[in-house]
Amino acid sequence: MRATILTTAPAVRFEGVRASYGRIEALYGVDLEVPAGSIFAVLGPNGAGKSTLLKVASGQLRPTAGTLKIEGLSVRRVSPEAFARSGVCAIPEGRGVFPNLSVRDNLSMWTYQGTGRPEAEERAYTRFPRLKERRRQLAGTLSGGEQQMLAIARALVGSPRLLLLDEISMGLAPMVVGELYELVAHIAADGVTVIVVEQFVSTAVRVADHAAILLHGRVHQQGSPDEMAEAALGAYLSSEG
Ligand SMILES: Nc1ncnc2c1ncn2[C@@H]1O[C@H](COP(=O)(O)OP(=O)(O)OP(=O)(O)O)[C@@H](O)[C@H]1O
Ligand SMILES: [Mg+2]
Repeated sequence: MRATILTTAPAVRFEGVRASYGRIEALYGVDLEVPAGSIFAVLGPNGAGKSTLLKVASGQLRPTAGTLKIEGLSVRRVSPEAFARSGVCAIPEGRGVFPNLSVRDNLSMWTYQGTGRPEAEERAYTRFPRLKERRRQLAGTLSGGEQQMLAIARALVGSPRLLLLDEISMGLAPMVVGELYELVAHIAADGVTVIVVEQFVSTAVRVADHAAILLHGRVHQQGSPDEMAEAALGAYLSSEG
C-alpha cells in the first residue's frame, strides 16, 4: 500500500513558492510538479531564478511564502541536513568537488551516511570507470567533464532519491555534455528523481521527461521537452538553441 502511495505522489511539488535574498526577491510564486523517477529540465536565462529554485528544493533557502513538498510531505521547517538525510542531493553550480583533494578523498567525504569508503569507491568506479584510473589524482587537475563526473559520483555515494543538478554542461564540450547526460539518464532509470537546470537547451532536453521555462522568478511555460526547447527560442534565446 505504502509503496503505491510513494510512487504515485509527485517527488517534488512547488506550490506558490516565493523566495528572496534579504530584500531581493528571486522567486515570485513558482508552481511546479516533478513526478517521481523522472528527469525534469528547468530552462531559463541568467538571473531567472533557476539556482534559487534548486536552493529551495535542497533546503538551503527557505521559501518566504508557499509550500515545498517532497514525496507528499511539506518541508517548510526542515534543516538542510535533514534534507540530505532524506535523500536530497544538490550539485551546485560550478562543480561541487574539492580541487585539492584526490578523487578518492573526494569520494570518501560522503561516506558519513553509513557507506564505508571501499563501498563508496566501488560504487563510484562501477558507474564511472574513468575515475578509477584517476583515483589518486587531485580533483582540481581533472578535466572539466571528469570533475563533473566526480561531482555526480560523490552525490551517488549518499544514494540520493532526488538529485539536483545546476548547469552541469557549463564550459564543457558538447560530446562531454552528451556523455554526462547519458549517465544522468541511467541514474534516473534506477529510480532517482532528477531536476536539471540549464540555460541552453540542447542536451538536457534530450534526456528529460518534462521541462519548464523559468523567467523572472516565475514559471513562464511548461510541457514536453521538445515544446519547451522550441518555446525557449522565442522566450529568451535568439538562435543559439
Ligand atoms: N546570494 C544572493 N544574494 C542576493 N541576490 C541573489 C543571490 N543569489 C541570487 N540572487 C539574485 O536572485 C536572482 C536569481 O538568481 P539565480 O542565481 O537563481 O539565477 P539563475 O537562473 O540561476 O541564473 P544563472 O543562469 O546566471 O545561473 C538574480 O536576480 C540574482 O541576482
Ligand atoms: Mg544559476
